[in-house]
Amino acid sequence: MADTPKTATLTIDGQSYDLPIYSPTAGPDVIDIRKLYGQAGVFTYDPGFTSTASCDSTITFIDGDKGELLHRGYPIDQLAEKSHYLEVCYLLLYGALPTAQELENFENMVTRHTMIHEQMHNFFRGFRRDAHPMATMVGVVGAMSAFYHDSTDPSDARQREIASHRLIAKMPTIAAMAYKYSIGQPFVYPRNDLDYASNFLHMCFAVPAEEYVVDPILSRAMDRIFTLHADHEQNASTSTVRLASSSGANPFACIAAGIACLWGPAHGGANQACLEMLKEIGSVDRIPEFIARAKDKNDPFRLMGFGHRVYKNFDPRAKVMKQSADEVLDLLGVEDNPVLQVAKELEAAALADPYFAEKKLFPNVDFYSGIILEAMGFPTSMFTPIFAVSRTVGWISQWKEQLGDPQMKIGRPRQLYLGDTARDYTDIENR
Ligand code: CMC
Repeated sequence: MADTPKTATLTIDGQSYDLPIYSPTAGPDVIDIRKLYGQAGVFTYDPGFTSTASCDSTITFIDGDKGELLHRGYPIDQLAEKSHYLEVCYLLLYGALPTAQELENFENMVTRHTMIHEQMHNFFRGFRRDAHPMATMVGVVGAMSAFYHDSTDPSDARQREIASHRLIAKMPTIAAMAYKYSIGQPFVYPRNDLDYASNFLHMCFAVPAEEYVVDPILSRAMDRIFTLHADHEQNASTSTVRLASSSGANPFACIAAGIACLWGPAHGGANQACLEMLKEIGSVDRIPEFIARAKDKNDPFRLMGFGHRVYKNFDPRAKVMKQSADEVLDLLGVEDNPVLQVAKELEAAALADPYFAEKKLFPNVDFYSGIILEAMGFPTSMFTPIFAVSRTVGWISQWKEQLGDPQMKIGRPRQLYLGDTARDYTDIENR
């Protein structure tokens, strides 16, 4: 953080406190309140961290008003167009685009770690067949710390590196196995001759009884979904990973915590919730009814796939995803897909409605990703696991950055306590 002559002055009961202001390379200035409690004896109050920077970071930047997302400075639309997922992984992890040799070495490294310990197959078999694949993933990723003891020490740089490669490499295998287990099909081992996205599709859709050839258009669309979800600043699951890691927890436990947080419908679960909503709407003529419900203050219903905490403009990922959705649906010959019809009409209706315009609610990435995944043949329950596969690199990059930060402290928020003050215990017969 650069030293800055700028300060903010806070006055409480006539007493003034000067607070340093830091200027970032992009985004709003940040007021440093770390000494405030020591000096003034007050806390700040910010439930949901709407105005609080929890760390400094050099990885990802979002300009929500412009609708811009940068990974290490590169716009996401350029990366989605010109790069591919494993190159973006390298960029996020190491801060620069790789040379051809660096990329080859990195891809070889990740590819050589794609299998999971054979004993872990038994672990999968302990789950009910109808378990949600996210539940299985939380359990299996957490269990990795019981299988890979040589990469659990976050204070050891070499162990951190091995854990990073293992997680990026094994996450597609774990997600595919969770899926195969849920539909009663045999696990399909990874194939190291395939690229990252094709290998994932192969593990999900191949069966031992016949050959499965991955279509390059579907593989490209899968790779784009991975790329577009790779990282996203200090969102809820990333902050969860950082908070878990701040206690010194091992990387597999931290990533399992991130997966658990991602599962919620306000975060990574939104793509599943969005597709379920589109199916519930069912036909274009029911759209006005659902728009009215979304606007009704007394109805908890929200348009899933719309709105974002940070983007108050079109989500740049949604633009690319929409293009991919068209390509995939053209290929699969499902132009008449009723879900897509509803999606397109709903998008147009919401964008034309003053309620959504005034509140700056635009379609987000989940609005289109679900349509693509459904067209590919994934059940809705696999949408969030696929988000988890993609986001693993973001979690790990942020986790590595945090561990290298000399200012790192255990995360320990304060509170505005509104409960009872001290009172004496009453014996049960006197209550
Ligand atoms: N449909 C209808 N109204 C909405 C919606 C929506 N999808 N989203 C926000 N609003 C309204 C909300 O009722 C509130 O109105 P008012 O000011 O009158 O009370 C206003 O817009 C602001 O909403 P908020 O909940 O204070 O905003 P937030 O920044 O806390 O919420 C959000 C962001 C993503 C949780 C929310 O927009 C939402 O629930 N969207 C639907 C779920 C969704 O698509 N989530 C995926 C997010 S993108 C993937 C990811 O990065 O994880």
